[in-house]
Amino acid sequence: MKRLKKVIALLVASAALLSAVACAGTTTTSTTTAAAAAATTTAAATTAAAETTAAAATAKVGVAMPTKDLQRWNQDGANMKTSLEAAGYTVDLQYASNDIATQVSQIENMIVGGCTVLVIAAIDGSSLGTVLATAKEANIPVIAYDRLIMGTDAVSYYATFDNYMVGTIQGQYIETTFGLKDGKGPFNMEIFGGSADDNNARFFYQGAYDVLKPYIDSGKLVVVSGQVAFEKIATTAWKTENAQSRMDNLLTANYATGTKLDVVLCSNDSTALGVENALGNSGDYVVGDNWPVITGQDCDKANTINMIAGKQSMSVFKDTRTLAAKVVEMVTSIVKGTTVEVNDTKTYNNDKGIVPTFLCTPVFADKSNYKTILIDSGYYKEADLAS
Ligand code: BGC
Repeated sequence: MKRLKKVIALLVASAALLSAVACAGTTTTSTTTAAAAAATTTAAATTAAAETTAAAATAKVGVAMPTKDLQRWNQDGANMKTSLEAAGYTVDLQYASNDIATQVSQIENMIVGGCTVLVIAAIDGSSLGTVLATAKEANIPVIAYDRLIMGTDAVSYYATFDNYMVGTIQGQYIETTFGLKDGKGPFNMEIFGGSADDNNARFFYQGAYDVLKPYIDSGKLVVVSGQVAFEKIATTAWKTENAQSRMDNLLTANYATGTKLDVVLCSNDSTALGVENALGNSGDYVVGDNWPVITGQDCDKANTINMIAGKQSMSVFKDTRTLAAKVVEMVTSIVKGTTVEVNDTKTYNNDKGIVPTFLCTPVFADKSNYKTILIDSGYYKEADLAS
């Protein structure tokens, strides 16, 4: 970190271009919130148009992604790189194998390596404060990508999908499928949430829970294990194997004596996959017969294949191309010093203030519409989904 500080001091003192670009970024946030303002620091950004265009042409963007293990982040990274390069930027794209220290050191290298904007999908939303303080010192704007970065005033913007709406879509799907509004029930349910260190996870959970709570309260949805609170249903690191072993345990403890599991609310596809594996291994559940309704999110290939096969009922599609395009727009506005478009300035408080956010819209997906939204749109090829 000492070495980094020295280099940063040098960078700040001598790199006129870096400072011009960063300053150009600062003008864009003047109308937004304290968090954004804090990230903008002092510079008077009256860079001439010609200068900013030249700066844009040479700007280097650091893109820090959490892991290659999950399909979606590979697509996010690839889309970001392609779109940024097409817009004329140089890109430093890094994946951190879900290891926090690796991600911190990758971001340090991006700062030292002269990146003028950072786009970061955090592994642990609360572990980047120190390194991002260094970015702020060097006037490098930071865009939180998909996951909010917590506890720092160095985040300028946040781009994501409407995370609460993801949960609402899942909850409403269960409500409709089981005729809960018509008073049907009781049905047995279990809940699998995301990783507690990911700020998104509680939004997904809350969105679904707000729809389903009245039915849990009235006994029309019965969580047989009694595990309802977020802390009980969270899945560390969103890992398939963690969800699978918890489902194994739940089945043994609560459903071994003929009690039927009707529905599993899973926040995303990696957790859904674990649940599906456990149900398959149990030998007690048969697709097309007594297989439970299972929700998901991301339309990962494995899960879309399972949807087609009847092992997963739905997923929420978040087109990574849409998010990448939005972030490229944000980067360009920052570099050019024009207003950064946001559509939410109230929801996402990172404990240091509200972060101005652009929310993209998630889309319901199931067996009946996957061809239109995934194949016709070019997201997947038919062959990708062959089982
Ligand atoms: C993302 C989800 C993803 C999950 C696990 C969340 O932050 O929003 O799309 O499934 O992380 O990687």
